[in-house]
Amino acid sequence: MSRIPVAILGATGAVGQRFLQLLAEHPLFEVVEVAASDRSAGKAYREACVWRLPGAPPAGVAGLTVSTTEAPFRSRLLFSGLDSSVAGEVEAALAAKGHAVVSNSRNHRMDPDVPLLIPEVNADHLDALGAQRRRTGGGYIVTNPNCSVVGLAMALAPLHRAFGVEAAAVVTLQALSGAGYPGVASLDVVDNVIPFIGGGEEEKIESEPRKILGHFEDGGFVAAAMTISASVHRVAVSDGHTMAILVRLAKPASPGDAAAALASFRGEPQERRLPSAPERPIHVLDAADRPQPRLDRDRENGMAVSVGRIRPDGLFHLRLEALVHNTIRGAAGAAILNAELLQARGLLP
Ligand SMILES: NC(=O)c1ccc[n+]([C@@H]2O[C@H](COP(=O)([O-])OP(=O)(O)OC[C@H]3O[C@@H](n4cnc5c(N)ncnc54)[C@H](OP(=O)(O)O)[C@@H]3O)[C@@H](O)[C@H]2O)c1
Repeated sequence: MSRIPVAILGATGAVGQRFLQLLAEHPLFEVVEVAASDRSAGKAYREACVWRLPGAPPAGVAGLTVSTTEAPFRSRLLFSGLDSSVAGEVEAALAAKGHAVVSNSRNHRMDPDVPLLIPEVNADHLDALGAQRRRTGGGYIVTNPNCSVVGLAMALAPLHRAFGVEAAAVVTLQALSGAGYPGVASLDVVDNVIPFIGGGEEEKIESEPRKILGHFEDGGFVAAAMTISASVHRVAVSDGHTMAILVRLAKPASPGDAAAALASFRGEPQERRLPSAPERPIHVLDAADRPQPRLDRDRENGMAVSVGRIRPDGLFHLRLEALVHNTIRGAAGAAILNAELLQARGLLP
C-alpha cells in the first residue's frame, strides 16, 4: 500500500527534526515536502538544517528543497512545528485551502472548534471537526497540547475518571530542548535553575488540561471544573520534562488505588493498535528514586508517560512525580499519533 504524502512545516526546528526522525520508517505517512522560513527556503534540507539529533537527516528527506509556507503543497496532511510567531496565520490559511493541519503550536489550541487532542484521553473531541470544517470549507486544524501539559493531563485523566480531580498544583522541571535551538544560553543555565519560562507557559499549563479533561457538548467545549496552579522551571536536562504534582480528589483514594487506575489506563490508540501508540500509555514505577529523565524518557519510544512516588499528602490528597519526553510524546510524537487517529477514523481529507 502506498503511504500518504505529508509535508512538515517548521522542518528545520527542534520539533521539525523529531517529525522527520519519527516519520522516517512510518507505515502510513511519507514526508515528501519540507517548509521553513525565508532563511531556509530554496536550500536543500541537509544544508538548511543544523541537525541536532543522533545520526543524519533521513536519506529521503536530506535532498528535498525547503520551501516557504506560502508554497502550494500537494500533500493534504501537513504537520506543523512552526514558531508560534507565524503558526497562527499560516495554519489558518492552509486549513482554509483544504489541508488537514496537525499542529504543535499554541496559537489555535484554545479555539472553540479546534480539538486539543490526546487520543487516549479525549478522542471524542474530534466531534468539533464538523463545525470547524463548515467554517473553513473543508480543511481543519487539530492541535496537541503544550509539552508539559501532555504529561500532566495524561497523569490526571485516569485519576479524574476514577476519583474526580478538584485541584492540582504542579511544579515543573523542564528540559532545554523545549526552548528550541539554540534556546537558553549555556551561561544562563549551567549550574543553575531558572524559575521562569516565557510565552505564557504557566497559563498554558493551568488552562489546557481543563479543556482536554472537559467534554464537547451541544457544539462547544465545556471545561473540566478543576483548579490548576503551575510553577515552571528550566533545568539543564537535554530532553524530558519532570513534574511534581499534588492532587486534591472529590473521592479520596489511596496511593494503591491511584496506581491501579494509572497503570490500567488505555484508550482508542491501544484498541485500534495505532502505529505510534504505546502499549501502556502510563508506566507506574515502584522505585523510590524514579522517574528520572535520562533513565525513563525513552520508554515505549518516548510515547509513554512515567509516573512514580505516588504517596499521601497532608495538604492535598496525593503527591506524585510524572515525566514526559517533551519533543516526542510532548510534541512531534503526539501530533503523529493524532494524525494516525484521524486516518483510522477516516477523517483525513
Ligand atoms: N520544543 C518542544 O519541546 C516543543 C514542544 C511542544 C510544542 N512546541 C512548539 O512547536 C513549535 C516549534 O518549536 P521548536 O522548539 O521546534 O522551535 P525552533 O527550533 O525554533 O523551530 C522553529 C521552526 O519554525 C520556522 N520558522 C521560524 N520563523 C518562521 C517564519 N517566519 N516562516 C516560516 N517558518 C518559520 C523555523 O525555520 P528556520 O529554521 O528557517 O528559521 C523552524 O523550522 C513552537 O510553536 C513551540 O512552541 C515545542
